[in-house]
Amino acid sequence: MTAMPLPQRYLTVRMNDLHAQYQQIKGEVDGALAQVMQEQSFVLGPQVQRFEADFANYCKVGHCIGVSSGTDALVLALLAAGVGEGDEVIAPALTFGATIEAICQVGARPVLCDIDPTHYTIDPEQVRRCLSDRTRAIVPVHLYGQVADMDGLSVLAAERDLVLVEDAAQAQGARYRSEPAGSLGRVGCFSFYPGKNLGAYGDAGGITTDDDVLAERLRRLRNHGQVPGDKFNYREIGYNARMDGFQGAVLSAKLPHLNDWNERRRSIATRYRTELGDLECIAQPVEAQHVHHIYHLYVIRTPDRDNLASSLRAAGVEATVHYPHPMHLTPAFRLLGNGEGSLPVSEQVCREILSLPLYPEMSDEQIDWVIDAVWRHYT
Ligand SMILES: Cc1ncc(COP(=O)(O)O)c(C=O)c1O
Repeated sequence: MTAMPLPQRYLTVRMNDLHAQYQQIKGEVDGALAQVMQEQSFVLGPQVQRFEADFANYCKVGHCIGVSSGTDALVLALLAAGVGEGDEVIAPALTFGATIEAICQVGARPVLCDIDPTHYTIDPEQVRRCLSDRTRAIVPVHLYGQVADMDGLSVLAAERDLVLVEDAAQAQGARYRSEPAGSLGRVGCFSFYPGKNLGAYGDAGGITTDDDVLAERLRRLRNHGQVPGDKFNYREIGYNARMDGFQGAVLSAKLPHLNDWNERRRSIATRYRTELGDLECIAQPVEAQHVHHIYHLYVIRTPDRDNLASSLRAAGVEATVHYPHPMHLTPAFRLLGNGEGSLPVSEQVCREILSLPLYPEMSDEQIDWVIDAVWRHYT
């Protein structure tokens, strides 16, 4: 393959380009933000309510509760599900820190579990080995936009009466057996951090559930324990974890585009997979059975990761690692007691993975450039 000269404006192919997306939907987003100014409803309010209704509908669940971040979504979901002091919660060692942090924040003990070496999501067989009398919940992470093995996990949860709290922070629009992420466990937790497939213009999160009682409690917990519609009636000790009006407005404006954006991500992934497929030294992402993957990240794997990353950066391609360390080998979570070598698949995967740029607004030229830069490293 020959290297095409890259026009100056593309000299860096970044991991994401939120400005390019804003240019495409500027009218809709600006209009939605102006509406918030008009209504002066900056915290919760009509724009958040509208988004909650639309996103619940999108996820095919009875409720979406808009909150201030994906991390708060996890904390509140665990609390509302009754997880706390003395409980153990099983979660994968390969994830963003917030998954494990949230379990600690509610006073429970995270039990870190190894992952499936092909799909990088939590391995139900390994979960079985982590079970104890104290296990109360499992938090599968739908990592990189790929839903975890919910069949295997649901069997375990049913056998042991465990709560399944989906960490769907990276999986807006992903599906499992045609059912949306966020509708597969007792409760689903989303991050709408700006770089997510559906991203706000600041921090925001959402909790999805079909459970009316849980939803009611979540609406209280996010707002200082106050009963909705009955201000200053503190039913329990809560949090300030409400979604902002501006974020609700931006998310409502963006939601109708999500499926198209996810399809574009999938078609870029297909190009990478096809056009890099002959490079035997690289393992391409593998879509698990029953999963509609939405490629929040396109993560390849190669023993030559660090050299490849340097070559790509030299060629103007931003390539980053999600994530360089499994949770048990980071200073914050070493205290959990899993030493080096205890979760070998996660450890090996973290040494070899590399995320290539992938976002819906990438031009075909930019995709060519990335593919070409990878080939040039090996030829
Ligand atoms: C898997 C996962 N869980 C939780 C979070 C936390 O979300 P937030 O940054 O919105 O608090 C993130 C955010 O990146 C994430 O990727």
